[in-house]
Amino acid sequence: MSLNIEQTALNTNTSVYKNIARKEYDITDEKREEYRKISQESRIAKLGAQNGLHKRIHEINTPMLDPGQFMPQLNDNGLTALSLFSGGGGLDLGFDRAGYRHTASYELIPICKKTLTFNRHEWLVNCGPDEGDVTQVDWKHLQGEIDVIHGGPPCQPFSIAGEQKGVKDERNMWGEFNRAVNTIKPKAFVAENVPGILSPKFEGFVKKYITNQISEYSIIKFEIHAADFGVPQVRRRIFFIGFRNKKNLKNFSVPKPTHLRQHFSNGNTPETYYSLFEEKLPRVLGVRASLGLPDIGFDNLAPTIRSAFTGKRNTTSILNSTAGQKSWGDMGIWPNGVQADRLKASAFPAKNGHFRLSVQDVGLIQGFPETWKFAGAVYQVLGQIGNSVSPPVAYNVAVNVLKALNN
Ligand SMILES: C[S@@+](CC[C@H](N)C(=O)[O-])C[C@H]1O[C@@H](n2cnc3c(N)ncnc32)[C@H](O)[C@@H]1O
Repeated sequence: MSLNIEQTALNTNTSVYKNIARKEYDITDEKREEYRKISQESRIAKLGAQNGLHKRIHEINTPMLDPGQFMPQLNDNGLTALSLFSGGGGLDLGFDRAGYRHTASYELIPICKKTLTFNRHEWLVNCGPDEGDVTQVDWKHLQGEIDVIHGGPPCQPFSIAGEQKGVKDERNMWGEFNRAVNTIKPKAFVAENVPGILSPKFEGFVKKYITNQISEYSIIKFEIHAADFGVPQVRRRIFFIGFRNKKNLKNFSVPKPTHLRQHFSNGNTPETYYSLFEEKLPRVLGVRASLGLPDIGFDNLAPTIRSAFTGKRNTTSILNSTAGQKSWGDMGIWPNGVQADRLKASAFPAKNGHFRLSVQDVGLIQGFPETWKFAGAVYQVLGQIGNSVSPPVAYNVAVNVLKALNN
């Protein structure tokens, strides 16, 4: 089988990723045979779909949700932003819509360059091992030039879906994030990660390798639930925000929800949340409503979608757990074999008759407006989406950082 250049680069771009890939895919012969059968069956079914052999069981959907509405474009606020670990641009898009001036993006995976430059051709985008690897950049040239550095250092070392090796994991990039902050000395930084990083296991890590290493900054850390910002997904993420000037931290407030989610059972609602009822916020839509699917008398938030490095290599599934499978099933949605577009999805019925997703649908479930286009094969697009910060979350954080810096 021949791999295209991007695919090769994605899988082998550094020795770290090579080693990890080798370990993760060291599977038994039985498992290999099982995967081979599944992929063969799915190839045959897909060929059938391409040749019109299947009865189209669902129409091409017209989504009701437009996450762009949750991020009205703000005027240029004069502040410069540097993006590290940019991926497919979730944080970048949120900061852009909040009016920041994009200075540059740095990202290891080559295909992300196509995504970012396609959407914002005027941006300076450095991607791939030669130009995008943050470990190779001497940040001195940006000293004093940047107001805010934002980035999501890889979360695999802390994710409960992984081995949680923290500092011992070669993918731990917090040291690099800190080095950029300490060299460039921006007014503020914004770093995002998975909830696992605040587990008791990593208390020592957070103190030693984050707060102590960026000690010139006054730091606040908090959790955000994407559904509180209109994103139809159970997705909790942790933010660390630091300000060089203590006064700015005093003026910072954690973004307040713009939507209610407690009408969904899997929203994980804390008691204090109920006071928001009184503010008459709009309710976050469920997945079916968001995607414009017919009413079946039940709807829900999507379970957390898979991030790029969990699950099988090059998978086109967004399933993250067995519990997730049931949740998708209850909504009549098939989370595997995601298709490149809605036409292909509607022509390729899932065996159980459930709705088949397209990458555009998955983008919406993550809070990307459809105007934001992703480059690459389906598995690469899903990788960029699954790794990203939901843009409406990024936007609300960026707006509150702006308020804190301007006060
Ligand atoms: C959690 S994702 C970031 C997603 C992004 N913040 C967004 O909102 O879309 C982490 C990213 O860090 C990238 N990465 C890992 N090591 C890197 C390195 N040495 N230099 C640059 N990027 C790296 C990964 O390829 C991955 O895309």
